Amino acid sequence: MSLNRCMLALSRVTVQHRFTLRTVPATTGVHKWTIPVQSQENGLCGVFQRRSISSGSSPRPPDTSLFVPVSRKTEMAEDGSVGLELSQPLEKGELLKVLNKFYKRKEMQKLAADQGLDARLFHQAFISFRKHVLETNALSADLHIVLHDICCGAGHVDDIYPYFMRHAKQIFPMLDCMDDLRKISDLRVPANWYPEARAIQRKLIFHAGPTNSGKTYHAIQRYLAAKSGVYCGPLKLLAHEIFEKTNDAGVPCDLVTGEERTFVDPEGRQSGHVACTIEMCSVTTPYEVAVIDEIQMIRDPSRGWAWTRALLGLCADEIHVCGEPAAINFIKELMYTTGEEVEVHNYERLTPFSILNHAVESLDNLKPGDCIVCFSKNDIYSISRQIELKGKECAVIYGSLPPGTKLAQAKKFNDPEDPCKVLVATDAIGMGLNLSIKRIIFNSLVKPVVNEKGEKEMATISTSQALQIAGRAGRFSSIFKEGEVTTMHRDDLPVLKEILSRTVDPIETAGLHPTAEQIEMFAYHLPDASLANLLDIFVSFSQVDGLYFVCNIDDFKFLADMIQHIPLNLRARYVFCTAPINKKQPFLCTSFLKFARQFSRDEPLTFDWVCRHVSWPLAMPKNIKDLVHLEAVHDVLDLYLWLSYRFMDMFPDANLVREVQKELDTIIQEGVRSITRLIRASEPHAVGGTLPGSPNPQSRTTSSRPRGGKALSQKSPSGFGGANSSLSSKLVQDGLLTPQLLEQLQREWATKLSKDAAPASKTSTGSKTQNNKTNMKKKKK
Ligand SMILES: Nc1ncnc2c1ncn2[C@@H]1O[C@H](COP(=O)(O)OP(=O)(O)OP(=O)(O)O)[C@@H](O)[C@H]1O
Ligand SMILES: [Mg+2]
Repeated sequence: MSLNRCMLALSRVTVQHRFTLRTVPATTGVHKWTIPVQSQENGLCGVFQRRSISSGSSPRPPDTSLFVPVSRKTEMAEDGSVGLELSQPLEKGELLKVLNKFYKRKEMQKLAADQGLDARLFHQAFISFRKHVLETNALSADLHIVLHDICCGAGHVDDIYPYFMRHAKQIFPMLDCMDDLRKISDLRVPANWYPEARAIQRKLIFHAGPTNSGKTYHAIQRYLAAKSGVYCGPLKLLAHEIFEKTNDAGVPCDLVTGEERTFVDPEGRQSGHVACTIEMCSVTTPYEVAVIDEIQMIRDPSRGWAWTRALLGLCADEIHVCGEPAAINFIKELMYTTGEEVEVHNYERLTPFSILNHAVESLDNLKPGDCIVCFSKNDIYSISRQIELKGKECAVIYGSLPPGTKLAQAKKFNDPEDPCKVLVATDAIGMGLNLSIKRIIFNSLVKPVVNEKGEKEMATISTSQALQIAGRAGRFSSIFKEGEVTTMHRDDLPVLKEILSRTVDPIETAGLHPTAEQIEMFAYHLPDASLANLLDIFVSFSQVDGLYFVCNIDDFKFLADMIQHIPLNLRARYVFCTAPINKKQPFLCTSFLKFARQFSRDEPLTFDWVCRHVSWPLAMPKNIKDLVHLEAVHDVLDLYLWLSYRFMDMFPDANLVREVQKELDTIIQEGVRSITRLIRASEPHAVGGTLPGSPNPQSRTTSSRPRGGKALSQKSPSGFGGANSSLSSKLVQDGLLTPQLLEQLQREWATKLSKDAAPASKTSTGSKTQNNKTNMKKKKK
């Protein structure tokens, strides 16, 4: 190669790309992935926990399968055909040989690996580079000359390396900023994220004990006596309970949940006290007392980060933590990182509690004060229907009911004057709630969980979960001064006894979640990555120390993927994706998408728009399908309210929507009050609301139940899911399709069919779509 050519070639390659190959500094701990697949006790099934053991060795390499290459056009180089003019045209066959020879060079692979290109990335980068070289009309002059020289024997195949690396870094921009990405995703000292809390010396009091031992009660006594305080609870209902209790005690208290902000001051000024769901607590407002309830939730795979944030970040002179004794040592250890001492107050159960020696076996053996716990809505329907067939009334509580309906059902059950003496509930009642239950009856001991592959599977409940649920029996404040627990089925009872006899595994890790700022910084480095991909790369790069794990972000990614195609700025996109959405509800997901689309068009989501979207006003439910849809609409309105607190201008009609939601809650309450009528109406062959000659579903299913877990009845009373049922009815039964969506689909198919049949009308639709597209473009501009 001539000197001139050599100078030209090298001048095109940056110094860094030439031969100063940086190596990643060895700074941090060894990271090990522990996969507690069957760790039922700590409820972490399916969650990867990362533990960093010590400092001083290299960081864990990121998962490069997450690196999505940025597509590059095969266009002409800026310097046009200078390379061609300075040398000769390149012969493709020869080029291919040279390139493939380069690919096989072990030395090159090793050099590239030092730059972060592992075998997978090396291969991908090479394919892209080869395509670039062979398909680009005019290569950059430097590359053209180097390739020409190699082909003529005047250069070595290794001379390709800097150009190959330059290309690799263009398609994998993360390679050029690995250190920065590692630094941004360094989650090793979360205590330092809260400078306000670190600026004061906080006192921690841990109220430890079994369920129903007065932990929350004692913490709340101190909270009530303080000049200012914040209560952080795991459920909206618990926040409501404390909000009401505090105001009843004559201490003005506000309520803050994701969807609701109630200021008791008539002029809307903030009170000294606030009861909130834990995700909503402020870590910048100073309080005298803060209460963090159910601290064992800090290890929750999805929500644990909220407890970690509250514990490390709340700015209060006194932090009262309530929860299982299994968390004491861990909380003490966490507090060493902040230099704060923990004072432990231990409590005993206020009322006795016993595991019975016999299962209930038949619904004929139910007694007043019984609560049957199921882990599926279908079982709730089935059992409440069977109870009704026996001429008894029952209340039902499950997760997707609106708070007003849950409270109304709880009130009905708690009311000694009400004839309803039996409750059928999911584990939605499992935390902190005070209900008048004498006996907890587990209808099943298995619960659907998502495993580490993201698949749904059934797993036996953990000791902690079983204790929480059993702890609802014989509450100190109720009329029953003794609690009992048993199972519906004889063969489940030994399993329950075994679960309850185990000690709760000590808590060992706390959840963390990347912040919007961290993701924004990541996006700055990787502007072409999708939000879900950014999150994946973040988690892959992140470093946590042994006390923490990164929370499961699957729901976040699910939402991020759903709206990836909608043009939104990153901050708005991030906020949308943190919305608490049940992804199993299709109507809610569709609404989320529509909200995001409307938002991206900069068109405020008005009350009228929302009413049109949910077809308000809605009628009383006639059957279970209607009820399920109403629950979904309630969640859609919740989503509106949630977003209205984050984007007030774009969701301007929160007050009107809240009014409608209250009305809807009343309609749902009414429906649930007569839920057995709705179930009856959903049954096949229902004539005039009766079920002629119905066999006893209990006897139908109990004989084939596997041990340890199947529900009393696995079949929905609605009769869906039979061998002959259609795909659409199966989808409806599985909650993947609502009857309304089914109808909409049918309408759309019918329209499509008629359009396909009429070519003339096709043209008009086409032009309409075109107009819409043009309008969209105009708006975006
Ligand atoms: N000293 C007390 N005086 C009056 N009522 C009390 C007292 N201690 C507890 N209670 C009442 O007993 C019931 C159970 O108490 P609390 O909710 O504090 O229990 P807990 O230990 O927090 O239970 P869980 O683990 O289920 O949350 C509540 O209704 C509470 O108001
Ligand atoms: Mg409590």
